[in-house]
Amino acid sequence: MCGIVAYLGERQAFDIILKGLKRLEYRGYDSSGIALADQNGLKLYKKQGKVADLEHFTTGKNISGSTGIGHTRWATHGEPNDKNAHPHLSQDESLAIIHNGIIENYSSLKQELINKGHMFRSDTDSEVVIHFIEDIRNNNACSLEEAVRLALTKIVGAYAIVVIDQNDPNLLIAARKGSPLVIGVGKDEYFLASDATPIIEYTNEVVYLNDYEIAIIRKEGLILKNIEAVQTNPYIQTIDLELDAIEKGGYDHFMLKEIYEQPKSIGDAMRGRLNAASGHLVLGGIRDYLNRLVSADRIVILACGTSWHAGLVAEYFLEDLCRIPVEVEYASEFRYRNPIIREGDVIIAISQSGETADTLAAIELAKSKGAIIFGVVNAVGSSIARTSHVGAYIHAGPEIGVASTKAFTAQVAVLSMIAMIVAYKKGTITETKYHELLVELETIPKKVEKALQLDKKSKAIAERFKDARNFLYLGRGYNFPVALEGALKLKEISYIHAEGYPAAEMKHGPIALIDEEMPVVFIATRDGSYDKIISNIQEVKARKGKVIAIVTEGDVLIPTIADYVLEVPVTIDALMPLVSVIPLQLLSYYIANLRGCNVDQPRNLAKSVTVE
Ligand code: F6R
Repeated sequence: MCGIVAYLGERQAFDIILKGLKRLEYRGYDSSGIALADQNGLKLYKKQGKVADLEHFTTGKNISGSTGIGHTRWATHGEPNDKNAHPHLSQDESLAIIHNGIIENYSSLKQELINKGHMFRSDTDSEVVIHFIEDIRNNNACSLEEAVRLALTKIVGAYAIVVIDQNDPNLLIAARKGSPLVIGVGKDEYFLASDATPIIEYTNEVVYLNDYEIAIIRKEGLILKNIEAVQTNPYIQTIDLELDAIEKGGYDHFMLKEIYEQPKSIGDAMRGRLNAASGHLVLGGIRDYLNRLVSADRIVILACGTSWHAGLVAEYFLEDLCRIPVEVEYASEFRYRNPIIREGDVIIAISQSGETADTLAAIELAKSKGAIIFGVVNAVGSSIARTSHVGAYIHAGPEIGVASTKAFTAQVAVLSMIAMIVAYKKGTITETKYHELLVELETIPKKVEKALQLDKKSKAIAERFKDARNFLYLGRGYNFPVALEGALKLKEISYIHAEGYPAAEMKHGPIALIDEEMPVVFIATRDGSYDKIISNIQEVKARKGKVIAIVTEGDVLIPTIADYVLEVPVTIDALMPLVSVIPLQLLSYYIANLRGCNVDQPRNLAKSVTVE
């Protein structure tokens, strides 16, 4: 939530920052702003709306300066408007700040500063931080670096900040706690951003700032200090990220590109890890702690949103294959419930961004109770990846569309590999079954490719139902989490109300909603509950509901009952979610697109939910 970009070097900062903000717009898009510093002072431009509105607003204005900071906002404190947009200025307007995160004690700090005569121009918590820094600097006659450090010792909450000073344009001060910040290291120049995407076209050498670290950046070099002012050594890493991965590449939207990338991204999740012919399946990242999983008395999965749905799929196959009891917890509920963690419990935390505040806090809580954390994460070097004891990256590549698609399937692929390894090691599946599973998983990218051929048919169904006001998604067994995921995808990007339910639960309530207006999507592939789900479809038809069924290729029965049918390739029950979710992603995409919605940046949402 909120994207920050900053630059210090020889080039024009504005162009680099504006381009970077566009790349980070998936993190927040209700307003944006840029501040530039040079020997003539500070220039500040802020605008409600998209980064394109800021670009338009600044056309023809003086945008010179080789040091600058920029921000794209997802509002928390104060509505989205020009004055609440970042950067924010200090009282005397000589300092400016960009901030991602939430300052929990801002209101008491603000009151103290008001008592001292400070006047605030916005309703944000972030503006309080820069006034606080200014106040400390004035009262202690100390350097800006020291004032930032002292301020951070008093601030409660989460932050990634960058501060700029009109009296010292060859200086940026950055710090983080709980919100991500990456520093790109060029030759006599530095790039700062919430993730590496604005940086990679200039340099692939980066430093991921740690919590409680402060970076003092000048053209001459980068100095890192901890909150006690002790200097630490920057750990410069080389990142492996191609520019193609963060561009639309000819697709109308990132979401469609990412849906289409799934044969590759699922393949990437397995690359170098799985070879069915030789029976090889190894996840190097979890090897050292594998025995903890094998001997686990219970597995607790922590995640939010789509990642939580991937966790639900994992619950089915971990219990089915490994015979280990599994609980899938909303991270946000877990952390406030005084949960019971016993010796012998193992935590699996799932997150695409690796920055979700609720998941991070739940992990910290579980760690404090002595639990071992297995992270299943997409964003390399992210907070969750770093705070987990051990983990497996899903290698889906950057996911930029706000609605998660390829991360879901890559998460399910990685979690299924974990289950296969554990089940084999535990002896809860036979050698033959193990090999069958490996062979089948290896064929999934091809099957997903085939499922993507449902594009046109999904679009035609979207045309028919684009004006529906409600949707019901029903599935059983492994397809129940897919029903939840289908409903989430539709509601978040098309704003149509959609509910996912286990199909058998329909008769316990949701059946009351069914009439001739109600589209009901059944994920009814041929599995153990096939006959049962046919009865559920009949119950909907008997009430004149409109049935869209996802069925297995060659099904002859359901097409005679359902109004619309989308056929997906045959696979085993445990891996069906990887295939059956594809037409649901396409359906949501086309419905949202036909309704004129902003598919990649749906209203009120942001990609990386770094606030509670
Ligand atoms: C839905 C979606 C969200 C995220 C959720 C968790 O399409 O993207 O529901 O899945 O915010 O995010 P991560 O996986 O980054 O922890």
